[in-house]
Amino acid sequence: MTSALPSEKVEDIEIRLLLEALFLKYHYDFRNYATASIKRRLRQARIQLGYPTISALQDALLHNSDMLPSLLGYLTVQVSEMFRDPGYFRAIREKVVPHLRTYPSLKIWIAGCSEGEELYSMVILFREEGLEDRTIFYATDINHRALGAAEAGIYPLDRIQLFTENHRRSGGKSSLSDYYQAAYGRVAFDKSLRSNVVFSDHSLVTDAVFAEMHLISCRNVMIYFDRDLQNRALGLFDDSLARKGFLGLGAKESIRFSPRGASFADFVREEKIYQKRADA
Ligand SMILES: C[S@@+](CC[C@H](N)C(=O)[O-])C[C@H]1O[C@@H](n2cnc3c(N)ncnc32)[C@H](O)[C@@H]1O
Repeated sequence: MTSALPSEKVEDIEIRLLLEALFLKYHYDFRNYATASIKRRLRQARIQLGYPTISALQDALLHNSDMLPSLLGYLTVQVSEMFRDPGYFRAIREKVVPHLRTYPSLKIWIAGCSEGEELYSMVILFREEGLEDRTIFYATDINHRALGAAEAGIYPLDRIQLFTENHRRSGGKSSLSDYYQAAYGRVAFDKSLRSNVVFSDHSLVTDAVFAEMHLISCRNVMIYFDRDLQNRALGLFDDSLARKGFLGLGAKESIRFSPRGASFADFVREEKIYQKRADA
């Protein structure tokens, strides 16, 4: 005899089915993201998009591809700011840059770049340190809307005070206002900052290594993954980094849970900056 499942369990089944549908139809793979956060986000999407059940949302997703960008907006978190956690950028400037200076050319990967705040911070820092001209920056994300916003480099004027303060605290050597123009309540960052940037759709879950990097900055992305996925992403970073290359993570992220963590030594421990071992 079968007994009725509590509605929460039914919702769990619906969520698994929706994530499977999203993968099978669109190749976006959220199946190994941290469950609690995915659940919260899908519930929010269901309510705000006006569907009675997750299954109804899944039906709409399968039959109407216009739904995809909207759902991705719910499933991916776009919170960011320029020079976020200024101590991290200060450590890149003071401790990592002296090593990077010894290379004639550099490749830097901002993985999960969101709307570009982290990217522009890094490009400005590299310009201030005289390294921009020898560097190619790869800015990647799975969210096309976010990538489009990153390419546009336009932000609300009311965010600029925070960005400016962060830039100063990161040890900025110029005035942030040198890099943007303000008009109609928004600021547009100078397009020269994008001269050496390649924007690209790349998933840490399903895609492969695409170049040999000297620095990878992947902040506040792996927190949304489960352990298996964090392990995969870390493997990708390990395989992508040149010997003695650097990996920077967000404050809440670590590599020490993973077997791939053994490839890295702490470089600036308190800022979650690691260096790939020479023999790894
Ligand atoms: C909270 S934002 C982090 C932005 C920025 N790195 C920072 O720390 O300020 C997380 C970003 O990760 C992206 N993301 C989520 N899953 C991803 C994946 N599998 N591969 C690449 N990026 C992903 C999201 O689209 C989002 O833009």
